[in-house]
Amino acid sequence: MEFSHFSVMLGECIEALDIKQDGIYVDCTAGGGGHSGEILKRLTSGKLISIDQDDDALATCKDKFKEYGNRSILVKSNFSELDTVLSELGIEKVDGVLMDLGVSSFQLDTPVRGFSYNTEARLDMRMNVQNPFSAYELVNTYSEAELKRIIFNYGEEKFAPLVAKKIVSAREVKPIETTTELADIIKSAIPVAAAKKEAQHPAKRTFQAIRIEVNHELDVISPAIDTAVNRLNEGGRIVIMTFHSLEDRLVKTKFNDYAKGCICPPDFPVCVCGNKAKLKVITKKPVTASNRELELNSRSKSAKLRVAEKV
Ligand SMILES: C[S@@+](CC[C@H](N)C(=O)[O-])C[C@H]1O[C@@H](n2cnc3c(N)ncnc32)[C@H](O)[C@@H]1O
Ligand SMILES: [Zn+2]
Repeated sequence: MEFSHFSVMLGECIEALDIKQDGIYVDCTAGGGGHSGEILKRLTSGKLISIDQDDDALATCKDKFKEYGNRSILVKSNFSELDTVLSELGIEKVDGVLMDLGVSSFQLDTPVRGFSYNTEARLDMRMNVQNPFSAYELVNTYSEAELKRIIFNYGEEKFAPLVAKKIVSAREVKPIETTTELADIIKSAIPVAAAKKEAQHPAKRTFQAIRIEVNHELDVISPAIDTAVNRLNEGGRIVIMTFHSLEDRLVKTKFNDYAKGCICPPDFPVCVCGNKAKLKVITKKPVTASNRELELNSRSKSAKLRVAEKV
């Protein structure tokens, strides 16, 4: 199947990486290879390591990047394993790291992957289909309190208590097996007047929350930034695009911590920690998509791009 994915802020990300033709780069989220392809085009003797945990994404990239021979290295892994991936390749330092977080449009639009509330499929939502834990297990085993927490925190769903309660009472009758079954249960939990006011499907926020939990999407970000910072050469860039306010906050906080250096309590008269800044933040405010891109791709609406440089 054709892996179609409209790469968000493609030009902005590539410019931010400030690519050197002989550098070593890592795309932690290869997906349909949009960003990876643009990096590869700019390399002569350099190399690109493209990581993804999704087999379909890697198969697409393999096909797309044949012409680049061993300049393109594809690795199936979670980017939380970045340190191991680089060690196994015998790579000490890199010149740039890119993360385009979240789900690809290919994953969302392929019914059997069970990400979408619009098409009937077994509940799944795993980016890595080798993982044993899917949306089916989550929806049918999490306690009401756990469901409420993730739906509220990751989905920013104000009716999370009602949704969690409905899920639990529905599964007492029989397990919730499909995407559309779950979407109908969620819809029935949201007050009609509130649902009517919205243009989007009432299940959208809850589906997002379940996907984030199934794939541990928030847990992997900070450790991966730590590895990237350690592995970057001086002047190397780390470029991260997020699609959720919690993701953006994690990136912003990490970048600011690394840019601060000194971690002494504010009332200390002189620095005793000796910590030095490791990053310079290039984007004081996150970069967002241009009006033209917003018109072409609604997914770019929530995108925020942050860039920092190793010092
Ligand atoms: C938004 S898409 C990337 C699209 C890509 N930049 C392009 O231009 O085609 C995100 C991709 O990252 C992968 N992904 C998300 N989190 C990951 C993780 N922790 N480790 C490895 N891959 C991940 C997903 O499987 C998906 O293919
Ligand atoms: Zn200090």
